[in-house]
Amino acid sequence: MGKIEIFDTTLRDGEQSAGVNLHADEKLEIACQLERLGVDVMEAGFPASSRGDFLSVQRIARTIQKCSVAALARSTKNDIDAAWEAIKEGGNPRIHVFIATSPIHMEHKLRMTPEQVVQKAVESVRYAVNFTSNVEWSAEDATRSDWDFLVEIVTKVIDAGATVVNLPDTVGYATPQEYAGMFRYLRERVPNIHRAKLSAHCHDDLGLAVANSLASIEGGAEQIECTINGIGERAGNASLEEIAIALAIRKQVYQAETGLELNQIVRTSRLVSKYTGLAVPPNKAVVGANAFAHESGIHQDGVLKNKLTYEIIRPEMIGLSSNAIVLGKHSGRHAFRNKCEELGIQLDDERFHLLFKHFKELTEKRKEVTDEDIMALAADLTGKEKGTDAYELVFLQVHYGAQGVSTATIGIKTPEGEFVQEAATGNGSVEAIYQTIQRLLPEPIELMDYRIQSTTSGIDSLAEVYVKVKHQGHVGTGRGIDNDVLGASAKALLDAINRIMVKVRAGAVLATNHH
Ligand code: KIV
Ligand code: ZN
Repeated sequence: MGKIEIFDTTLRDGEQSAGVNLHADEKLEIACQLERLGVDVMEAGFPASSRGDFLSVQRIARTIQKCSVAALARSTKNDIDAAWEAIKEGGNPRIHVFIATSPIHMEHKLRMTPEQVVQKAVESVRYAVNFTSNVEWSAEDATRSDWDFLVEIVTKVIDAGATVVNLPDTVGYATPQEYAGMFRYLRERVPNIHRAKLSAHCHDDLGLAVANSLASIEGGAEQIECTINGIGERAGNASLEEIAIALAIRKQVYQAETGLELNQIVRTSRLVSKYTGLAVPPNKAVVGANAFAHESGIHQDGVLKNKLTYEIIRPEMIGLSSNAIVLGKHSGRHAFRNKCEELGIQLDDERFHLLFKHFKELTEKRKEVTDEDIMALAADLTGKEKGTDAYELVFLQVHYGAQGVSTATIGIKTPEGEFVQEAATGNGSVEAIYQTIQRLLPEPIELMDYRIQSTTSGIDSLAEVYVKVKHQGHVGTGRGIDNDVLGASAKALLDAINRIMVKVRAGAVLATNHH
């Protein structure tokens, strides 16, 4: 059996998904969960892109020790310096440097000749190996590049010291046969290929990202780059869980295995979905809510007689267990702490205390509290701006009007510590809430997206609301969790405003530093 290394890029390419902006605390928690999942490399971000990204990559590298932490850099000294500075304290840091190699990118985006691109690629790898021998080089848009040009440039970057060579299907254009063929072509013609690992990185524009990634193994790839739930630019990246399970279930075909803890898949998928606000479609392979639901009578009958009739994946394999211990009213702090540890929830003492309090409040209303509820309550405490710097909901009252006009009265605490309240009407309760919050803020807010989902099934489920808003020239997302959809809506909006304010403050600090 060959070993396939899993390079997770949820926190870099995944975070580039439209509308996603993760808080540093959320990124760290996802990183810790990826470590638990057992990925070989996690790409934590693109440090040169912003101060926030730099700090978040640095924090992840300082925390994660069991897997390699990578940072992306363009082929410039500045980018490589920033990448190294951010990851250098990590266990096994990797600099990931890239440049485009396709004619369309070289001519129209880079405005460089192929010779200049080769020179820059070689220079950038030579510069990066001054810091570490763990250097990955990527040929952006490799699948639309000339294969002989790839042979030339790959030979030269390996000579310069690259130990991993990544051939991305940046625009999701390749077919599985072509992609495997490209890997085979390079493996056969690059004379020093034995000194580097080949890596696949696929986007899903034609829905072929997972198929292409798996095909690359037949062509000789030893590393696959992917994201949790397949999130990423445009149609997304190859989905980690689909690749991992395909390799496990069809081991005989691929003759390759990963070092992943497959029973962490569901938990990782849910955590990423919760923090990014990107819902997993119910019919998504492996982690979709319906992936193990048998609807038709014939299928149900078959599964009752023998599960193998219609089930190729055991739910327990990915960490879906029907007999998980459910907590309730009589569960104490000790049982609750054990459950949190089992769920991978990491909170400081103050937040743990708050989480326990919220859990107890929930048990007053409900007989049973599920893992999903606890994860939702914990997520509500992570990445939230609290205390003096944030708006906080103090009370909310809504009168539903039979003619469609509702009235909301809301009290909030401002970042300056003042208590203010307002009332407004709207065509419906949610609009009334938003109009009222608008009155409480000095600048206009534009609601760009509003989504609601329930944490579990059942009438007493917690409500989770995701919003995307524009405020003070920035777009931000927010999340609110409450027993009531209206409470969740108000919290989500204030969360988005608080996150935008962090960006506004960071911009102001940057501007002051520049003057
Ligand atoms: O898709 C791509 O080409 C990338 C590179 C930066 C590796 O994400
Ligand atoms: Zn990509």
